Amino acid sequence: MEPYASLSRALDAAELARPCLVIDGHRLQANLDRLKSRQLPQALRLVVKSLPSLPLLDTCMAALDTRRLMSFHAPFLEQLLERYSDVDILLGKPLPATAARGVVQRFRDRPERLDQVQWLVDSEQRLAQYLEIAQTLDTSLRIAIEINVGLRRGGLDQPRQLDSLLGQIDQASRLRFSGLMGYDAHAARAPGGPARALAAANRRYQAFVERCAGRANDLTFNGAGSPTHVLHSQDSPLNDVSLGSVLLKPTDFDLPQLAAYQPACWIATPVLKRQAGVSLPFLSAWTRLTSRLPGRERDSLFLYGGRWMATPDWPRGMQTYRLYGLSSNQQLMTIPADSDIAVDDWAFFRPTQSEAVLLQFGDLRLARDGVLCEQWPVLQN
Ligand SMILES: Cc1ncc(COP(=O)(O)O)c(C=O)c1O
Repeated sequence: MEPYASLSRALDAAELARPCLVIDGHRLQANLDRLKSRQLPQALRLVVKSLPSLPLLDTCMAALDTRRLMSFHAPFLEQLLERYSDVDILLGKPLPATAARGVVQRFRDRPERLDQVQWLVDSEQRLAQYLEIAQTLDTSLRIAIEINVGLRRGGLDQPRQLDSLLGQIDQASRLRFSGLMGYDAHAARAPGGPARALAAANRRYQAFVERCAGRANDLTFNGAGSPTHVLHSQDSPLNDVSLGSVLLKPTDFDLPQLAAYQPACWIATPVLKRQAGVSLPFLSAWTRLTSRLPGRERDSLFLYGGRWMATPDWPRGMQTYRLYGLSSNQQLMTIPADSDIAVDDWAFFRPTQSEAVLLQFGDLRLARDGVLCEQWPVLQN
């Protein structure tokens, strides 16, 4: 069922009348149920940058029965550490030493919190920096190592490179090896389909895992993301799969392998003005004429805000007008002239990604059955 009427009712009832980020609670729940029903053999880890709100993370962690998060941003990491005492947090990228030191400094009197973090190291240089932090701040750090399984975004290329890093970690009493992270997003868009590229990534990953043989048996072997989680099965080298975006399904995740998941978040914004036809400065004769071509008549809307990383979704057929350009203040959109959307109605966009976009609208609004039932603060940047 199309969600726009119900979301509009909820937004009207809340008297918001400004751009909002609204999540459909039923659809989010359906996506969580869908993911849970897959019974992945790996543990699930939620990607914080894609679900950047503590109540949203709480909802998803509870539904999926996980206490694992992946974080990419020092301010977010600190908010997670303030909030959770029982969540394992793997860094998804190697933080600059200065940022890492800041976090460690702020939590050094709570070593049990710092012990929740797996700091990501991609090189000898980064390892040396983190060792220096651990020594000078008199603390212990858990270290995960980034590996390149084909994405080519850094990390170790060869399993034998592990030996030197692991040797250094073993020698440093303040460091403890916690596992590997190898992101395989490239496989999702491989020419010829994901299956072969993912099999190759898995073989590379497996060779790194074998290099860790004989070590602790609670190591994290993390990988995957929304586009590839569905492709990891029983024989995957991973024991820990991260994902986030697919639970809200912004448009970048409209992929065949994710067809079972539903879009669950929108930018909703009031229509400020509606004009018959389209009429641009200096081009009014031409634009008036082309917007009145029989069978292709179009009208203009001006919206409250715009220029988001998002694609027009409702009313049907709503489009940006390239010649006029985009505006963060009042964006011109054109619509089929027979659309019955009116001033003060709501227009809807689907974010292209949830990362970053969800942070732009203040509190997230959770809607269910025509009511805004919850207001979820986003993480502070
Ligand atoms: C290291 C890593 N793992 C997993 C993900 C997957 O996140 P999502 O499921 O939100 O795409 C990302 C996304 O950028 C990532 O960088």
